[in-house]
Amino acid sequence: MISLKNIDKTYVSGSVETPALRGISLEIQEGEFVAIIGPSGSGKSTLMNIIGMLDTPTAGIYVFDGQDVSTLSDDELATIRSHKIGFVFQSFNLLPRTNVERNVVLPLVYSEEPDALRNGTVHTALIAAGLPEDQWGKLSNQLSGGQMQRVAIARALVNDPRLILADEPTGNLDTKTSEVILQTFERLNRQDHRTIILITHEPYIAARADRIIRMQDGKIVEDSKTQKSVKAAHYV
Ligand SMILES: Nc1ncnc2c1ncn2[C@@H]1O[C@H](COP(=O)(O)OP(=O)(O)OP(=O)(O)O)[C@@H](O)[C@H]1O
Ligand SMILES: [Mg+2]
Repeated sequence: MISLKNIDKTYVSGSVETPALRGISLEIQEGEFVAIIGPSGSGKSTLMNIIGMLDTPTAGIYVFDGQDVSTLSDDELATIRSHKIGFVFQSFNLLPRTNVERNVVLPLVYSEEPDALRNGTVHTALIAAGLPEDQWGKLSNQLSGGQMQRVAIARALVNDPRLILADEPTGNLDTKTSEVILQTFERLNRQDHRTIILITHEPYIAARADRIIRMQDGKIVEDSKTQKSVKAAHYV
């Protein structure tokens, strides 16, 4: 699904150059659950933004679903993003003082919104994200952090994406709420077979993925299967 070859990313502001990614090569297959870990500033978010086509590499080749991403127009990139990729962030990024349904329907283009609200697409996403129905009528600022993250996950699911990119999705949540959110990601991977790439600082969260990629100074310094994936393979 994802193939990166010798990807570099250097941020330039004025005369200052910051090399954020240095020679990243990586393959991720459809259906994998991958955790990315590493110190602050090691390039995790930069890598995720490139995978999500929110940013472009300075050098290297990125092939997504067999297509060289560098050859795609902005419109084509936007189409791939809106049909195949769902994003979840640490800070939820909900529209303030806006109700739950409006927040979830947001990634859809205007012409698709009325249908999604009418035919239950939005409610299906909210159910999949685990937000109880009695919370659906609230405004975003009337929810707890865990509930806000469930709305954000529903928003990421509303397009029925095959790839979910989550940048520290439990970073602002307590341990118990993090566990519920983590179980949601596990279900989206194991039951729905969605590919998940999740950035985390917590080793115990990374251990729940099939594979852990460790970054340092813009490079991948470790890429290993977890015990979890070994067990899963054994029982298949
Ligand atoms: N827009 C930008 N302009 C300039 N430099 C940037 C920009 N975004 C990131 N950087 C730099 O690129 C490097 C990698 O940043 P990145 O955000 O990818 O790290 P990270 O691993 O996600 O860190 P954290 O765990 O703190 O979120 C850092 O040195 C950072 O300062
Ligand atoms: Mg980051």
